[in-house]
Amino acid sequence: MPAKDRPTSILFVCLGNICRSPLVEAVARQRCAKAGLAVSLASCGTGNWHVGKGADPRMVKAAADAGYDLSLHRARQARATDFEDFDWVLAMDQDNLETLEGLRRGRGVEPVLFLPWTGMVTPDEFPDPYFGDAGGFREAVALAEQGVDGLIARLRAGRNG
Ligand code: 4NP
Repeated sequence: MPAKDRPTSILFVCLGNICRSPLVEAVARQRCAKAGLAVSLASCGTGNWHVGKGADPRMVKAAADAGYDLSLHRARQARATDFEDFDWVLAMDQDNLETLEGLRRGRGVEPVLFLPWTGMVTPDEFPDPYFGDAGGFREAVALAEQGVDGLIARLRAGRNG
């Protein structure tokens, strides 16, 4: 398919691909479908510890409580070809971004921080709920929803290339 006929493709990236990025992917999948936006979405982690595993049960629960299904998610690690395969590679925090830059080696799209890309002024980094309590997972859901609303506004405004 010619590039302009393809849906915009977005890869969300965190460290383990079991908390933040699968959550943002699920929220974006649901809200973009509702908004009638054609997008191709995926997520991955910079680390390899959880490859092939499901999302963190605490994240699955907080997401399910808000109406997002993470039950089918399986973690995968970022790879060099991701920068050729996606229009946007959106990192959750600065560490993720730096690891991605090393993997990219100057080829393909330049990864950027997710929340600033959505137009959110603060925070720049998506806090990692992994070492915290249940409240952190609920806050992650609310932040993902805000970020995705910004993402949708950005795509609607046509700033997607
Ligand atoms: P995520 O959270 O990057 O949002 O998926 C984490 C998951 C696992 C670990 C750290 C953060 N870990 O250290 O295993």
